Amino acid sequence: MSILIKNGRIVTATDDYVADIYIENETVAQIGKNLNVSADEVIDATGKLVFPGGIDPHVHLEMPFMGSFSSDNYETGTLAAMHGGTTTVIDFVIQSRGESLRKALDEWHGRAKNNCYGDYAFHIAVTDFNENTKAEIKEMVENEGITSFKTFMAYKNSLMIDDKQMVGLMEEVKKYDGIVTTHATNGEVIDYLVAKNLKAGNTSPLYHYLSQPEITESEATGRFVDMAHQTGVNSYVVHMTSADAVDKVRMTARRNQKVFAETCVQYLVLDASVYEKGIESAKWVMSPPIREKKDQTALWTAVNQGVIQTVATDHCPFMWDEKLRGKDDFSKIPNGAPGIEHRLDLMYSEGVAKHKITLNKFVDLTSTSSAKIFGMFPQKGTIAVGSDADIVIFDTEKKHTISAQTHHHHCDYSAYEGHELTGKCETVIIRGKVSIQNDKVLINKGYGKYIKRNKAPRIV
Ligand code: URP
Ligand code: ZN
Ligand code: ZN
Repeated sequence: MSILIKNGRIVTATDDYVADIYIENETVAQIGKNLNVSADEVIDATGKLVFPGGIDPHVHLEMPFMGSFSSDNYETGTLAAMHGGTTTVIDFVIQSRGESLRKALDEWHGRAKNNCYGDYAFHIAVTDFNENTKAEIKEMVENEGITSFKTFMAYKNSLMIDDKQMVGLMEEVKKYDGIVTTHATNGEVIDYLVAKNLKAGNTSPLYHYLSQPEITESEATGRFVDMAHQTGVNSYVVHMTSADAVDKVRMTARRNQKVFAETCVQYLVLDASVYEKGIESAKWVMSPPIREKKDQTALWTAVNQGVIQTVATDHCPFMWDEKLRGKDDFSKIPNGAPGIEHRLDLMYSEGVAKHKITLNKFVDLTSTSSAKIFGMFPQKGTIAVGSDADIVIFDTEKKHTISAQTHHHHCDYSAYEGHELTGKCETVIIRGKVSIQNDKVLINKGYGKYIKRNKAPRIV
């Protein structure tokens, strides 16, 4: 099978030029002006952007969490992602306390295998670091293609590890040149504030937001980067939301420490006014919560300064009836929101079209840096000869409006209902196969494959 994409404006994290791309089987075979080749399928991309398939480094599909499962499974979630130009996702395997990493990994592979439209990889979340877990780290890195280890500094009852476990994990992961990532918020302080608010009768979703003030994020971020500095491990802070926390990452440059950081599209485009809508605010109950406009500004700045390298979604949807479990107690609202489909179009419309980021930065944030940091580059994250032919053809003029009526998430509300966007994916190609063309699905579930990731030189 071969495809010739003609005359597109090819944009990577570093380049921007008009040329043809010839795809043979799963990879890019040639790039050049007026390529003289015949192909099974020719796509005219004149006037369109052609960029690498998106990589979402932070999603939770069919995740067991807060008493239920996130509502998108591997089939619906990777298809929604594909509609929005995200061809690879990195999901989180989560160790159960008292159990092995291996057991969790087998369970997650069982759910994902043969069900994905797009390619997928796994981080593994360590929730119980002990001698047995320690002995499994090498195997994960060297044989399972899992080079990133997620930690939670909050959710004390289920996921959080303490600082002693954190430094132990960091020392072990460093031995194998992996990377430790974290959900950086101070779980103890949050739990204290949650209990205090509930005791005072403050039960609405607004108090989810007020129980996780910015200091809970900046304190934990500072503690995490300090422990990473002490141990010398590669480190990455997930879903950063606030100015002061970002400053904790920025400051590490003073001591020549490199810390990678991620934000999510919702933190760049929404603000805390979403918590002023009574019970409807449960739609945006996620951790950390959405912050103030000044934090949005700080995040766009950090993205442009290279302090933050990736933009994810932390896609973790729950149906509205699940959210309503917390109608009389915000702490029972399952944390998370849908978004996997709209990362690229929101980043284009809110970022590129509004001149907040360049096109090269857009590609870097949505694809290239994740591939580099998490060991998939140059197989993924760019358009180059030999790379996987994961390609988006994007119509910058097409206007559309986000709605739960039309989105592909398995979720009965949208976190972005009514948002009007400029620019939309027209054609999506994954490993040499057209998967989406003008909203039509042209591949079957099961096409997506598990990507074993490498230890990578993390120069971003
Ligand atoms: O609210 C969120 N973010 N839910 C998913 C779990 C996490 O903390 O990333
Ligand atoms: Zn988190
Ligand atoms: Zn998450």
